[in-house]
Amino acid sequence: MTTTTRVDPHASSIASGIRPFDHPVRGRFNAWFFSALDRHINRLTAPLKQTAFAGLATGTIVELGPGVGANLGYLPSGSELIAVEPNARMHEALARRSAREGVTVRIIAEYAERMPLPDASVDDVICSLVLCTVTDPDAVLREVRRVLRPGGRFRFVEHVAAPAGSTRARVQRALHVPWGWVFEGCDPHRDTGAAIEAAGFRHTEIFERMLQRSVFYPVNTVICGVATR
Ligand SMILES: C[S@@+](CC[C@H](N)C(=O)[O-])C[C@H]1O[C@@H](n2cnc3c(N)ncnc32)[C@H](O)[C@@H]1O
Repeated sequence: MTTTTRVDPHASSIASGIRPFDHPVRGRFNAWFFSALDRHINRLTAPLKQTAFAGLATGTIVELGPGVGANLGYLPSGSELIAVEPNARMHEALARRSAREGVTVRIIAEYAERMPLPDASVDDVICSLVLCTVTDPDAVLREVRRVLRPGGRFRFVEHVAAPAGSTRARVQRALHVPWGWVFEGCDPHRDTGAAIEAAGFRHTEIFERMLQRSVFYPVNTVICGVATR
C-alpha cells in the first residue's frame, strides 16, 4: 500500500535555504538515470549495504532520498517505509516497486532537513548516496537524531571526498560544478564521514572502502556505517 503526502515542498524551500528539486529536465534525467543504473550501482555497493543495513528489524523505517527504491530489497518483509523524497518524478517508480516488494510505503514529498515526523518516533533511519546531495548535511543529521528513539540507528552508505592530495580528490574538486549541475547538487568532494562523527551520536562506526570495477571514477571512495543515538 502506498500513501503520498503532497505538500509542494518547493514552495517554501528557497526561503529556508534548501535547494529545490523542480527542474523538469534534470529531475526527470535523474529519475531515469537511477532507474537505469539501479542494478549496477546496487551490485557495486552491495557489500557496503550489507554492512550498514545488517540487523534492520521489521518495523517503521525512515529512508532519506530513497529515489526509485534502490534499498527496498534490504528491508525486512512486513516493514513500513516512510520515504522522504523531494523529487516527485521518482515517486511513481518508488510506489510501483514498493508494491512489488511487498513494502508498505508512505511517501513524503519533503526535504530531509525538515522531516514532518515527531521527535524520538522511529527505530531506524537509512540512506544511500544522499548526504552528498542534500543542501545542508548538518541540518539533516540534526533531524535524523531528532526523529530517532534513544538507541535508534542511522545506517548510511555514502560516497565521500577522496584522501587529500590524491588525484581523485583533485578530479572531484575540478568536476564539482558540472557534476553538481547534472546530479542536482551532488558534491563529489564532501567529507560526510566527518559530519556524521561530529553530529553527536552516542556511538558511530564508519568503514571506508573503494568501489571495485566501478565506472564512476570521481565517486569511488565510499563509506558505510551505523551511528547510534
Ligand atoms: C543520488 S540519488 C540516490 C537515490 C537512492 N538513495 C539510491 O541509492 O539510488 C540522491 C537522492 O536524494 C534525494 N535528495 C536530494 N536532496 C534531498 C534532501 N534535501 N532531502 C531528501 N532527499 C534528497 C534526491 O531526490 C535523490 O532521490
